[in-house]
Amino acid sequence: ETVYAYGMHLLPGVIDAHVHMRDPGGTDKEDLRTGSMAAAKGGVTTILDMPNTSPATVSQKLLEEKLTLASVKSIVNYGFFMGATIDNIGELKKAKRTPGIKIYMGSTTGDLFLKDPAMLEAIFAETKLPIAVHAEDENIITKNFEEFGLTRNVVDHSRIRTPEAEASAVRKAVALAKEYKHRLHLCHMSSALALAEFEDHADLITAEVTPHHLLLNESDYMNLGTLAQMNPALKSAADNAALLQALLDDQIQIVATDHAPHRYEDKCQRYPDSPSGVPGVETSLPLMLDLVAKEKCTLEDVVHWMCEGPALVWDIMEKGRIEVGYDADLVLVDMNKTMAIRGPHMQTKCRWTPFEGREVTGWPVRTWVCGKEVYREGEFDVSRPGIEVMFEHSRGGYWAGIDG
Ligand code: DOR
Ligand code: ZN
Ligand code: ZN
Repeated sequence: ETVYAYGMHLLPGVIDAHVHMRDPGGTDKEDLRTGSMAAAKGGVTTILDMPNTSPATVSQKLLEEKLTLASVKSIVNYGFFMGATIDNIGELKKAKRTPGIKIYMGSTTGDLFLKDPAMLEAIFAETKLPIAVHAEDENIITKNFEEFGLTRNVVDHSRIRTPEAEASAVRKAVALAKEYKHRLHLCHMSSALALAEFEDHADLITAEVTPHHLLLNESDYMNLGTLAQMNPALKSAADNAALLQALLDDQIQIVATDHAPHRYEDKCQRYPDSPSGVPGVETSLPLMLDLVAKEKCTLEDVVHWMCEGPALVWDIMEKGRIEVGYDADLVLVDMNKTMAIRGPHMQTKCRWTPFEGREVTGWPVRTWVCGKEVYREGEFDVSRPGIEVMFEHSRGGYWAGIDG
């Protein structure tokens, strides 16, 4: 087939290295079919999914059950993290077919909060797979949202974690990574204070940021209320700027979404009954392309942060070579298309977005997974399953990829 693409750009498919597709156990919010369709529509050809499902992904058996589910339901390529608990270190030591171990250093959706500091240390000491952390310290959590003048159905309790909470957990994780020379990935960095806890180009430590932590801040609570409730919480405009600068400086290597769908009715409950998290897999590429249109970064930067960076950080390999995604994972984007982001137009099951009404320039129009077109201007071909991603952990991580 000849593809006419005059005036368009063909990019490597996006690898979203941090999503919550809720399958199994939360399929009223999303499942691997709807979530992977949302991904394809957003130009995302590979997803790495987090373990806080029900049941949580805490054993090889449960991980392989998810792989089987995905082999039937996912139209994009996929991988699944293994969650750490107080008593599954045996499983973590022998885990395979996974990008790594996810540790929740603070509580959030699900019940994977790892409270015990001795167990945290034991996982760094005794396991080999890369460790991804949700870095927020349970013990340092106060900020009073009344100071933002919030009154109605908003995140107004003093339970929101601050930059100090994030910085404290990052400090602990970085110390353990250095002590045990263990590959550490810092998920969804949200504050300048946390960025100060790890250095540029450390050979052990990589980091990620979400589009919402780059583009939204505390001033958005006024409009969004609990729709903007998430962990880590939004910070200040100065933090937005520091996070973009950290990407430009290569201190942060990945833009990933933390796609965390919740039902709109649930999000509209009064805090703290409202759940934390926002969807994002289908809006991340347009939001980042819009930064190119606004001349905040280049198109090459976006490819580096959304395609190459995640492949290198998670050692995604094919046929012994480092790949930017898998063969012929591609997305065609129209850099001249300007359109507002609208919840009702979303493919994700939850059909709302914290970016409602935002006009962005630069949209994916067609997506190929393993050479097969799965999305074309509003139409899907769901007969094409994605494939399981392979991880080559022996290679030595991000910096080995850059040097070699
Ligand atoms: O806001 C969040 N939502 N943060 C997380 O760490 C988990 C996520 C979810 O699964 O809902
Ligand atoms: Zn998290
Ligand atoms: Zn997450």
